[in-house]
Amino acid sequence: MSKNIILGITGSVATIMIFKLVDELEKNGFRVKIITTKASWLFVFSVLFRKPQKIFKFLKIWESGLLEFTGAFSKKKGKVRHINLVKWADAMLIAPASANTISKIVHALADNFLTTIALAMPQDKKIFIAPAMNVNMWQNPFFQKNMEELEKEQMYQVIGPVTGTLQCGDEGIGKMASVREIVERMNNKMS
Ligand SMILES: Cc1cc2nc3c(=O)[nH]c(=O)nc-3n(C[C@H](O)[C@H](O)[C@H](O)COP(=O)(O)O)c2cc1C
Repeated sequence: MSKNIILGITGSVATIMIFKLVDELEKNGFRVKIITTKASWLFVFSVLFRKPQKIFKFLKIWESGLLEFTGAFSKKKGKVRHINLVKWADAMLIAPASANTISKIVHALADNFLTTIALAMPQDKKIFIAPAMNVNMWQNPFFQKNMEELEKEQMYQVIGPVTGTLQCGDEGIGKMASVREIVERMNNKMS
């Protein structure tokens, strides 16, 4: 089966894992295109600052969304970028997935490139979601209601989070699932 993946990255400290995740996905035969939220940039910059050798790799697979507007000027059919990306993709992975982005998806909000693509994905393609956040964010009752809603739909496959020491130093649930676990689950569900 073809394995084209849109990897959505959100504003979470777990963004430090993105290159490990991309490497593991590619090792498993996935072709990856990255999309980012504005909030994720703080974290993406800090990763690229520490690993400047990864900049070219990142630019090669990054779909900025900046040219999305060009579709508005074209009379030709098939020029709408987010729809083309959705057609290219066999599945979407949002990792790390912030509380904010998950909550927006549950309410069918599409106020940025990532949530617009998530909303435009057809029902027969999976959206894998790997949440990562502080334990109190995870346990927040309103957020938990959103997670319950998300898990009712077969299209959305939640991976993790796991319990451990979080980036903020707190102990508890909220840590992003391991890269191996994420890729294994995707392999199982997509084969
Ligand atoms: C230093 C820092 C770390 C953060 N880490 C997380 C996190 O791990 N998980 C999370 O859900 N939100 C985290 N946030 C909050 C999100 O970045 C914030 O809710 C943002 O609006 C998310 O936007 P996005 O969903 O569009 O990426 C963090 C914020 C800061 C400033």
